Amino acid sequence: MSTVQEEAGFDVDKFIEESIKRIRELNIDKALAAVSGGVDSTTAAVLVYRAIGERLLPVFMDTGFMRLNEPEKVCSLLRKVLPTLELIDVKEEFYRELEGLDDAETKRKTFRKVFYTVLSRIARERGCNWLVQGTIAPDWIETRGGIKTQHNVLEQIGLDTRREFGFRVVEPLKELYKDQVRMVARRLGVPEEIVRRQPFPGPGLLVRCVGRFYPEKLEVLKVANDIVERSLENLDLSQWFAAIWEDDHMLDEELTRFVREKTGLDVEVHIFMKARGTGVKGDSRVYGPIALIRGNVPEDKLYRIYLYITSRRPDIAHVIYEISRRERGCYFIAIRAVITSNFMTARVAKLPLDLLKKISDKIFEKCSDVVAVGYDVSPKPPATIEFE
Ligand code: XMP
Repeated sequence: MSTVQEEAGFDVDKFIEESIKRIRELNIDKALAAVSGGVDSTTAAVLVYRAIGERLLPVFMDTGFMRLNEPEKVCSLLRKVLPTLELIDVKEEFYRELEGLDDAETKRKTFRKVFYTVLSRIARERGCNWLVQGTIAPDWIETRGGIKTQHNVLEQIGLDTRREFGFRVVEPLKELYKDQVRMVARRLGVPEEIVRRQPFPGPGLLVRCVGRFYPEKLEVLKVANDIVERSLENLDLSQWFAAIWEDDHMLDEELTRFVREKTGLDVEVHIFMKARGTGVKGDSRVYGPIALIRGNVPEDKLYRIYLYITSRRPDIAHVIYEISRRERGCYFIAIRAVITSNFMTARVAKLPLDLLKKISDKIFEKCSDVVAVGYDVSPKPPATIEFE
């Protein structure tokens, strides 16, 4: 009888066995693994741990861009498979370098620079000349295609890591897709909480702090995101989270007229002035405006309106439907929830509007600076799952 992985054309045991053999052949003296608690970096570290034992030093870098209380929670979970894991607080350095930046790619590139500067310092201090990374296939495919700078893609874009950072890179999962990584993780005994965790971008909440970054905005996002994650955790979604930006938008009269004509609905279409979002078109990356639909729209008409807006204005990267608004506050919170098997394409989860309203109420209650909450109705492609 064939196993699930054989049916999918992937033999987990053979992969593990061959990876361990290949890692041993590298003659690694001492390697550093920066583990984030995501399934990719954890699985990569555990695989190398199996191959070289305690010559692997696993560290968890608290960059400040993790979710609410996540560093402590994740570390205690990770120590079940990586008992020597060390937690290192590097928040200040990250905030200092990133504060005030607003362009998505500049933020990603700066995050990557700080990340590897800090990491190579730690590696030097600990005498490690190898770095373990949990890079998987979509990471480098998208970076090489110019869609987005994944923070962990180095060698595939021609960076000489030995010269730049003083270490060589080992990436045992670089040919795998997410579902294959999960199979490997389970076979290696990685705790189910980690295997099933939704994916989290390398630069963390930085890419959900849309536009200009500053620490106060991040703190509001952490609280709102925690509410969103908890409220949707039992719905079998692939990825769900909150993003934040300044609630600064203007009515687009032309789009509003067009959508009203097409649907007969009394809606307004606005465009955010400060926030822009990322999308994918063919093989390249686009960075475009974010539109906001305001007014009463039946759930089953939202996608149609999305199509009208983006057919008229293909430059618009994400379309958000406003769920609730109040008088005071300066931030807009967008809820994102998608269903996907490979994260290269994704559809928007059809969440009941009354559930989204309840979540908005909770956000208003806990975050006094939030003025409005919306739901992202954009599929991937042409939008990306993240906003930056
Ligand atoms: P996008 O936004 O490109 O995201 O549709 C696809 C999937 O990749 C995750 N993602 C990242 N993962 N480093 C990562 O390890 C990154 O820089 C990064 N950016 C996006 C995203 O959360 C989604 O699951």
